[in-house]
Amino acid sequence: MGFKALCLGLLFVLFVSYIYKPIPENVEESWKVLALDVPLKILSLMAIYFEKLGIINYAEFISIIAKLDYTQPHSDEYLTVTDMAFADIPVRLYLPKRKSEIPRRAVIYVHGGAFCFGSFKMRIYDSMNRWTANKLDAVVVSVDYGLAPKHKFPVAFEDVLTAVKFFLQDKILTKYGVDPTRIGVAGDSSGCALLAAVTQQIQNDPEIKHKIKAQVFIYPVLQIIDSFLPSYREYEHGIFLTRDRAVKLVSLYVFGNDEAFYQAIKRNQYMPLESKHLFKFVNWSILLPEKYRKNHVYTEPILGRPGYSFPALMDNRASPLLANDSQLKNLPLTYILTCEYDILRDDGLMFVSRLRNVGVPVTHDHVENGFHAALLFMMPPFYLRLGFRIRDMYNSWLDKNL
Ligand SMILES: *[C@@H]1O[C@H](CO)[C@@H](O)[C@H](O)[C@H]1NC(C)=O
Ligand SMILES: *[C@@H]1O[C@H](CO)[C@@H](O)[C@H](O)[C@H]1NC(C)=O
Repeated sequence: MGFKALCLGLLFVLFVSYIYKPIPENVEESWKVLALDVPLKILSLMAIYFEKLGIINYAEFISIIAKLDYTQPHSDEYLTVTDMAFADIPVRLYLPKRKSEIPRRAVIYVHGGAFCFGSFKMRIYDSMNRWTANKLDAVVVSVDYGLAPKHKFPVAFEDVLTAVKFFLQDKILTKYGVDPTRIGVAGDSSGCALLAAVTQQIQNDPEIKHKIKAQVFIYPVLQIIDSFLPSYREYEHGIFLTRDRAVKLVSLYVFGNDEAFYQAIKRNQYMPLESKHLFKFVNWSILLPEKYRKNHVYTEPILGRPGYSFPALMDNRASPLLANDSQLKNLPLTYILTCEYDILRDDGLMFVSRLRNVGVPVTHDHVENGFHAALLFMMPPFYLRLGFRIRDMYNSWLDKNL
């Protein structure tokens, strides 16, 4: 008995040391971060093994966990909260109850979740959107979209575009008392890839009368053509989001469950020869400020003739950073928040450079001790102060600029 327990104990220690990666010293509440990071990595590992054993696929397993956090819409004395559909796309609408003399501002929110999970129904997104509606006295629309691997690119993009276009109609804005000149969009992580692409589409479409006034990106995903940027190299085993996990989930979005493609993305050798001209848009040796380039060496991408043809890889609706300068220059006032300890840091930093190069006004906050997904920890029992800080940063920017 004692021997068995000892073996089990040893096995456990081995396992934890395999999962455990030290948290950088300047991270606040580091013991809490560690205590959240380790179980999440264990869950992810379980998901991988369940998939290998053919029990349940990776994204489905994670999705089941996320669903435990869903909440019904509930109104209170300040807000009327309703789930409904905008042209068949599910949305949750937050309408302030107080009478307003003038039409209100509106914020459309698109959640993250690596294209594979998440919903406006999660308690955390519900509480954030409530907060925005109250703080800004704004109408808030939170959008859901088809998730991978069931729905591959471009379904999620099209769902968000459909919902936003539906909302921008005169009759809908009037119905909810929204000022058409004060509509903002906001999102986190993969939600930003969808949002950025949708905003590009809307601002450049002469058929759409009402435009977006301001856009907010929290630790955004903005490209899927290079997974070997300096931030990917430095934080490969980072807090909450590892390179391996990100690559896995993105490959589900682009390609469905295809092991060969997943392995090719892992090696960063998956882009076709015809994509050569696109790499100037993500050339970090030019677009990253020197501070972040450090002593990383830029190498030209390795392009090939892979055994698949996949248009999403070259599409700026999947990688909004691939839009050319003339498409970017019509974009609205922008807020970008990047976190240092995040493989996606450089997506955001490069977008800041590209937008500023074409004259789009950008406010950029870089959180030196920040990490990906911090917003998800604002609910008991999982509190992180960083989550609240980020929430307050983007809301106060919206309050001033929308
Ligand atoms: C990236 O920039 C470097 C200069 O820093 C240049 O030598 C290289 O050709 C560029 N590559 C691409 C694909 O734009
Ligand atoms: C930018 O892209 C758009 C859409 O693909 C295209 O119509 C336009 O010609 C491009 N502009 C430049 C300067 O390459």
